[in-house]
Formats: sequence, structure tokens, C-alpha cells
Amino acid sequence: MNSMEKVYGSGWAAWLRKHSIALQIGTTISCNVAYLMDAGHTRKAATLSMILLGGVSLYCFFSRRRKINARDLIVITGCNSGLGYSLAMHCRAKGATVLAGLRQIPTVPNSSAIEDLKKQGVIVHHVEITDEQSVRDFREKVKELLEERQLVLRALINNAGVMVFGEFEWQTQKLAEYQVGVNLLGTMRVTRELMPILRENRSRLIVISSHCADQSLPGISIYGATKAALHAWTTSLRVEVGKYGIEVVSFIPGGFVLESNIMKRQRLHFDEMRRHMSEEVQQYYGNYFTRYTEYFSMPSLTENRDNPKIVSDPRIYEIFDNALLNVYPSTIYRCESWRYFFYRILFKSTPTFIRDRLVQRFVIIPPWKADEK
Ligand SMILES: *[C@@H]1O[C@H](CO)[C@@H](O)[C@H](O)[C@H]1NC(C)=O
Ligand SMILES: *[C@@H]1O[C@H](CO)[C@@H](O)[C@H](O)[C@H]1NC(C)=O
Repeated sequence: MNSMEKVYGSGWAAWLRKHSIALQIGTTISCNVAYLMDAGHTRKAATLSMILLGGVSLYCFFSRRRKINARDLIVITGCNSGLGYSLAMHCRAKGATVLAGLRQIPTVPNSSAIEDLKKQGVIVHHVEITDEQSVRDFREKVKELLEERQLVLRALINNAGVMVFGEFEWQTQKLAEYQVGVNLLGTMRVTRELMPILRENRSRLIVISSHCADQSLPGISIYGATKAALHAWTTSLRVEVGKYGIEVVSFIPGGFVLESNIMKRQRLHFDEMRRHMSEEVQQYYGNYFTRYTEYFSMPSLTENRDNPKIVSDPRIYEIFDNALLNVYPSTIYRCESWRYFFYRILFKSTPTFIRDRLVQRFVIIPPWKADEK
């Protein structure tokens, strides 16, 4: 539990952090009511108190959370590193039984992810979500756990995803199929295979989404396309399966590229692009491609994290818990910084020519110089 405790803090500090906004609002309102009383507006103060009390009760009613225990099974895909790994540890620390799906990565032979997960009591199973047989085996594993241990599948968390940086023209068809295959078709495959269980157990389906689903960015056009497609799929599915008691929720965890392994293979991807570039394309892009690859091959982005790190932002877990446990879940849960928030609002609300300039400010990539060859 050591690393998880570090993230949460313990005891009072954690409690204060969790409820800090409620405490601030509560204090402000009490002061105002006290002021009104003091100024002789007794009736106004009473009315205000009643309205606020009603509001708070409604808020508490709709933000109620379910409890979770070892009889609840939570299935998460893509637990080799980053978010999946962290969420598996987190759900386990909360007391659920967790089945973590990992894909084998030949480039990280000595990853300690499996050992670390097992040490915390997470059940680990290999799954290649692009492979039909592998996903079937995974489903059998889920069934076996449910039956042997008398569990209920509480949630399926579709987290597995890959991202390749690079302008669209550079990305080979193979790289496009790789991203669509994992992010979109793989997610659909896992969900379809588990659907009978999701229906029977009235489980929650959580799809890990991205800000790119809504506002796609240059340099990750294909990744953005897969996330937008997932968003459309989720929107339809939510209504389709709602009537069978399955709740569909999107969770947008925000950016934490530095703590995930999502960029780890980027250097290999660039090699692949370089190998398949035509003479003409090489000539045209010249030094720009080189600068681009150097920029995105920064060690801080692509270093191997043999020992995966727990995502350290406590807000992610706080918001994830709402997505997992709220009795009346929202459609989308977002965890974003103020910077993301402002840019998102601006992207949505400004005319295209301004929006596109803002995007260029937001995404920090090496500049294109037409005369540099
Ligand atoms: C991986 O582990 C094996 C044996 O446990 C060791 O021989 C090998 O050097 C390690 N490789 C790396 C890259 O650490
Ligand atoms: C959950 O699903 C499993 C497998 O489909 C089934 O055996 C079990 O009875 C279900 N439990 C509940 C409470 O629906």
C-alpha cells in the first residue's frame, strides 16, 4: 500500500483535501446567513438556509457512491503501465477483486509490472485485444473467476490504447491500422465478448477517452480519429444497452504522458516512417522530419519505464471513483488542468481561424520552415 498511500496522503490531510471545496462553500454560506441574521433579515436568512439545505440534500442524493468490496470484480485492460496499472492498484487498494489484462511487450522483457501487481493481490492475465482467441480466453478467465469465487462483475474498464505521433502523411498504413486495431476495434472486441456477462451482472462499462475525442490535435490525427470514433460508439451504446441495465461512462483522465508508457515505442515508429518514406516525401520535408523526430524522442518522453510508476495526481483517482461508484453516473467524467479547461472552452467557442491558431499555441511542436532544406 506504500505507494498508494503516498498519493492519497492519509487521515486528516486526505479528508481535508477531499472536502476542501465543500468546506469553503459551507463556511462562506454560513457567514452570509449569519450576516443576514445579524442585520435583522431573519426571514430572508431562514429562506436562504432552507433553499441551500434543499440544494445540498439533492447534491448529496445524486452524488451518492456505492460501496465496493472483495465480492466485486473489476476488469481493466492495458495494465502494463500508466493509467491502467495505476487504476488496477487503486481499485485493489479500495478492496475490490481486480483482474488486470496485460499485453506482452517484447521491448520490455524485465518489466516489474506483473510482479508489482501480483504483490498487491491483483489477478494478472495476458490479453492481446487485437486477437480473437486471446480475448476469448480472457472472457473465460473472467467467467471462471465469477463462478469460482462467487463474484459479481462490477465494471469493465476499457483502458488499452496506443498513440503514434507524427504528421498524417508520414504515418504508414500499418501504423494507422495498429492504432485503429487497438483503440477502436480492440475495445469493441473486448466489450462484445464480455457483453453477456455485463448484461447478466448489470455492470458498468467505463471507456477511457481523451480530450482528442472532441478537439483533435495536429500530430495525432489518427489517434484523435480513433478516440472520436470511440466517443460516437459510446454515445450510441449508452442508449442501446441502458435498457439492459448496463451503464456506459466515459472517463477523460487528462494529460500525463510523462508518467505513462504511451510514447515508449515512438522511436521505433519514427524508424518505421523513415523506412517507408518515398524520395519525394523525404526531399520535401527534409530537416523538418528530423527535428520533429528528435523533439519527440526526448528521453523524458520515451525512456523505458521498466518499473511502471503510479500516476501521482490524486484528482485522477477522486474523479475516477465517481465514474466507478456514483449511483447516478454522469455521461463523461473529466480530469483536467485549468490550462486544458480554458483551451477546451476556447477551441469550442471561437471561430475556426482563431481556433486553429490557438491549437498551434497549445501543441508545442517544432516549427515548419518552408525554405529549410
Ligand atoms: C533481464 O533479466 C535477465 C535475467 O533476469 C537478465 O539476464 C537481463 O540482463 C535483464 N535485462 C535487462 C535489460 O535488464
Ligand atoms: C454474474 O455473471 C455470472 C456469469 O455470467 C453469473 O454466473 C452470475 O450468476 C452473475 N451474478 C449476478 C448477481 O448476476
